[in-house]
Amino acid sequence: MMKLGLFLAFPGHHVAAWRHPDASPLGGLDFRYVLELVELAERSTFDLVFLSDGVGVRTNYKDEDELSRWGRVVHFEPITLLSALATRTSHIGLAATASTSYNEPFHVARKFASLDFLSNGRAGWNVVTSVTDLEAQNFNREKQLDHTARYRRAREFMTVVNGLWDSWEDDAFIADKQGGRLFHPSKLHILHHKGDTFSVRGPLNVARSPQGRPVIIQAGSSDDGQDFAASIAEIVFTAQQIPDQAVSFARGLKARVETHGRSGDQVVVMPGMMPFVGRTKSEAEDKFDQLQRLIDPVVGLGMLAGQLGDIDVSGFALDAPLPELPSTEGSLSRQRLIYDQARREGLTVRQLYQKVSASRGHLRLVGTATDIANVMQQWFESGAADGFNIMPALMPGGLRDFTELVVPELRRRKLFRDAYDSVTLRGHLGLPRPSHFAVSHG
Ligand SMILES: Cc1cc2nc3c(=O)[nH]c(=O)nc-3n(C[C@H](O)[C@H](O)[C@H](O)COP(=O)(O)O)c2cc1C
Repeated sequence: MMKLGLFLAFPGHHVAAWRHPDASPLGGLDFRYVLELVELAERSTFDLVFLSDGVGVRTNYKDEDELSRWGRVVHFEPITLLSALATRTSHIGLAATASTSYNEPFHVARKFASLDFLSNGRAGWNVVTSVTDLEAQNFNREKQLDHTARYRRAREFMTVVNGLWDSWEDDAFIADKQGGRLFHPSKLHILHHKGDTFSVRGPLNVARSPQGRPVIIQAGSSDDGQDFAASIAEIVFTAQQIPDQAVSFARGLKARVETHGRSGDQVVVMPGMMPFVGRTKSEAEDKFDQLQRLIDPVVGLGMLAGQLGDIDVSGFALDAPLPELPSTEGSLSRQRLIYDQARREGLTVRQLYQKVSASRGHLRLVGTATDIANVMQQWFESGAADGFNIMPALMPGGLRDFTELVVPELRRRKLFRDAYDSVTLRGHLGLPRPSHFAVSHG
């Protein structure tokens, strides 16, 4: 069965969503608004909801005037929000982003294990290395670590987090009131990690969580990023637009997963997809055009700069082709994707920012439910995608269109479940519960 995630962004993924007449511009800080979206996704039996995140305002703005034109500047911290949502939902997976560059592994291991308990086994962690200097500047640095160093730290971070999650065996806690023992001492494994970056004793002060470990998600697409994903990820998010490239990305990734001693089936590849659904094609196009018309040129150009890896675009002529680009310490894969698109389609800088602003390099489908289900089915059956991370341009309207029109069509084709048949995120995704790894004793 196809997997579906709801990639939450408030009030929608389109850069001009907040200016739409139907939008709740500050929905990212309105729990009732968020809850209604997540309840809708759960009624539609989505596998998970997903929150991206940055540790700071990630928008690449040059001054306050520019920033004041952007949407999505303020929103809840994801783990806090998911903890509240855990108490109001029962089945849907709850996945949050946390950075390995600006956290300590102990904090992250503890928070996600707690979320896994609070949600009875529905937690997922999107492991990111972060990509902006603006975030670094909230953590005592002018610039972020370089790409290689970020991934080196991320690998060790992950080793520590996994070790902490294995502090306790599944049946360690016996609570023997008569005998006076809370847990079996032999089932406690103290980590004693000493590495290049981290020195962490352990154990974690949360027991082994309902899923054994929360589900690990990764979305790096560079060579380093894919290798890291292949070594740890159970879900891989990716931005893909061309079916053949999506197939080779998914195949390549699954082949790499096998070189790390895991089966390719243990990784779920989910490209992002922004749907504009109408009862007719022209109704869908109108919905798209209405949002495109609302893009502020200042914001469009700023967004392009960010997507190209925080490079300086101030000298770019708007109605000329995209010039050669400088190298970046930001996301290399995203820069290449956008550069290739501009060259392939012969776009000017203005046309490119309009394209990039709309779906940030992700697949965008505009059409009827049948049109959209056709493409999703092709991608699914050709191995380009195991599922999709759905990115409604505007919520709740765009999500409602997708759940009311496309989901029934996918069900009619027997591509998507009618009802949940499990209660954990691992269960929905068909992923095994990891066995306890014995880690070194103290
Ligand atoms: C769908 C998707 C979602 C992502 N979400 C985040 C995010 O929320 N926060 C973040 O810091 N990076 C995010 N990233 C970036 C990556 O996870 C990764 O850290 C970054 O792309 C740099 O690695 P790369 O050069 O290997 O692509 C996302 C990437 C993709 C494709």
